[in-house]
Amino acid sequence: MPNTRPDQVPASQEELERQVARHFQSDAYEVILPPNEKKGYEFELRNKGRSIAVQVKNYAGKCNIAQIEKFLHFLSSGDARQRFSEGWFITANGYASTVAQWAAAEDLTNLRIGTWENGKIHWAYPDGGADTRSAKGAKVRRGYDEYTYIGVFTSKGGVGKTTVAAHLAGAFALTGHDVTLLDLDPDRNLKKLFLRDPEMINDDASMFVPPITSDSEGATISVLGLEEWYSQAGPDARIVICDCSPVLSENPINIVGLFDYCLIPTLLTPLGIAKNGDVILRTFHHIRRYNQKARMFALINGYISDQEERNRLLIEHLEKHLKKYLRSDRKCRFIRPDEAKIRHSTSLLYWGEHIINRAKPQLAFQKTAGRSYPLADFLQLAAYLEEHTDIGNTDIDR
Ligand SMILES: Nc1ncnc2c1ncn2[C@@H]1O[C@H](COP(=O)(O)OP(=O)(O)O)[C@@H](O)[C@H]1O
Ligand SMILES: [Mg+2]
Repeated sequence: MPNTRPDQVPASQEELERQVARHFQSDAYEVILPPNEKKGYEFELRNKGRSIAVQVKNYAGKCNIAQIEKFLHFLSSGDARQRFSEGWFITANGYASTVAQWAAAEDLTNLRIGTWENGKIHWAYPDGGADTRSAKGAKVRRGYDEYTYIGVFTSKGGVGKTTVAAHLAGAFALTGHDVTLLDLDPDRNLKKLFLRDPEMINDDASMFVPPITSDSEGATISVLGLEEWYSQAGPDARIVICDCSPVLSENPINIVGLFDYCLIPTLLTPLGIAKNGDVILRTFHHIRRYNQKARMFALINGYISDQEERNRLLIEHLEKHLKKYLRSDRKCRFIRPDEAKIRHSTSLLYWGEHIINRAKPQLAFQKTAGRSYPLADFLQLAAYLEEHTDIGNTDIDR
């Protein structure tokens, strides 16, 4: 892609790293590159007995809290905790307005965050204030084709679109992919579920999802409304999951046209699949009208595992009525529950309690008695999608 950024903004991640490293070198810091494969930081600075891990990010948009939390997670884990006394985070496009206040409120004593601008670093924390400058990258939105779009879509309300969108994002984040969640539902439920203060609807709604295994860095989820999506530079996360409005016409046609994949949650109940799976068929048809390329997947949500016989009958019924359409449109599939499904679970049912008791937003992945249905099911779904799509091959830095 040609470089269309303003001159003073480094052209690439590597160029930014080089410029920042040179800057510190000329300031009497010793710059040490990480052993072999870079992990969690770009280089180390040494000076007067201090050892500082520096992360340099050429994000196209403003950096959010989750992206810093990801760095903090690295600093507090394994070898990094022994090795580094501090972590410095430097980005080329500034920070979301709440980042500096958040860092101050958390009293992060081993962290410094700054913006690289015109060959200098402007420290936003601890010595600066909130960096409210507009992101320079706003002029240079990444090309639409650099993202993988997944729409979670169906014309029925209350079948789990928002729940599925959020936790699928969580599963991708657990496997190391940063995700943008685009909240297309005018109710803005998703945004509220990810805000630190549900009343501050314009605040940064981002979440860091720590890794499950020690060889991963974890990843971020950032929730954006449509206006933010249009006005921002375009997030750096390559996977964009859209939580759609159940009113089909309320979803902007140009966004529906971008979907590479569509997930259509459905409940396996007689009413849920009433009228011969009509709702699913209507949704397939609607999307196809505006989007010829999207691969669509109908997914069972709220599955009750101990009702084998009933489930079998309902699945048979559903498959029979989807058969004709699925034959005519080879890009559509019904995901059979033995391949992937989302089971009914109390933690999904009560997900969002943090809004009521004002706790920190989190996904419903916590284990009870050593197990979590949602964790297992959404990881299984992510694996199914990675197997049946190109998702996962597109999240590499370009
Ligand atoms: N697998 C599940 N198990 C238990 N409750 C669920 C499950 N999926 C969704 N729910 C609950 O169903 C309700 C509707 O889900 P929601 O995601 O808001 O649907 P939609 O976005 O389609 O309107 C919510 O109360 C949610 O907690
Ligand atoms: Mg919803």
